[in-house]
Amino acid sequence: MPETTPPRLLLTRLFPPNVEARAARDYSVQANPTDKVMSGPELAEAAKGFDGIMCAAGDALNGQTIAALPDSVKIIATFSVGTDHIDLAAARARGIAVTNTPDVLSVATAEIAMLLILTACRRGGEAERLVRARQWTGWAPTQLMGITPEGKKLGILGMGRIGQALAKMARGFGMEIHYHNRKQLPAEEAAGAVYHPDAEEFLGSIDVLSMHIPGGAATRHWLNAERIARLRPGAIVVNTGRGSTVDDAALCAALESGHLRAAGLDVFDGEPKIFEGYHSAPNVVLLPHLGSATIETRDAMGFRCLDNLDAVLLRGEAPLHPA
Ligand code: DGY
Repeated sequence: MPETTPPRLLLTRLFPPNVEARAARDYSVQANPTDKVMSGPELAEAAKGFDGIMCAAGDALNGQTIAALPDSVKIIATFSVGTDHIDLAAARARGIAVTNTPDVLSVATAEIAMLLILTACRRGGEAERLVRARQWTGWAPTQLMGITPEGKKLGILGMGRIGQALAKMARGFGMEIHYHNRKQLPAEEAAGAVYHPDAEEFLGSIDVLSMHIPGGAATRHWLNAERIARLRPGAIVVNTGRGSTVDDAALCAALESGHLRAAGLDVFDGEPKIFEGYHSAPNVVLLPHLGSATIETRDAMGFRCLDNLDAVLLRGEAPLHPA
């Protein structure tokens, strides 16, 4: 029997060791051991002769890059649930399948949202900076008093899988769950959460806003100055979805004026660049896009990419998780 050559797979980033090992077992792989982020033209050039691309959030798979990809490319599997870095319509027009990694990162991302809610409520960022700067002079009755999440109304914007995982965790902290979504969830999924069909009325009803909406043109600056003004005085804003959904200047102004008590951000418009005002705002907690960053989750995301690549490139079947 003649040996068949494995399909050729381009890895645009350095992925976790278990994921790279499985990829190398089943494909002829070009890895990126230095993890250098490629520009769109570099990516299209690197893809020459490849059957599949495994990419990640931040890769410039815009319309231009997709138009420049070689005809050999049949599938782009992104190591993310978000697909705002990929021009899906351009890929569809070229007959290139695009897949993402739903479900496997819901709990990890909800954990980071919960971490930000707790840190913002209890002033964990300020407290850590105080101790680390050797400025803590001892316990005091009025030092760094925050607020308790218990009994507060958590408003989840985008009640998909991540939003629902967060709701489950937040109930454990005694929070009352409210949500705004395009559609009301069936009762068994809502699990008692209060649905607000009207965004403005939703914002005025909650104490903590947690944002879980996708990026892209339709949601750009969804949280703008007008909507921030609808939030109750002293409200908290947390974002683990996409940075582009927040107007940073408006959020910063509301943190500075005291209209908002605090914010917790894991994602940023134009990241890794951060809006300058956040650097000096004491009441904002900043994380470097950690949502899915657990060993277990990152392995599961990589395996989900490879399951999709296997379906298309090894078995000639439809992808399992089309984006
Ligand atoms: C996702 O999966 O979309 C995360 O934000 C990581 O990019």
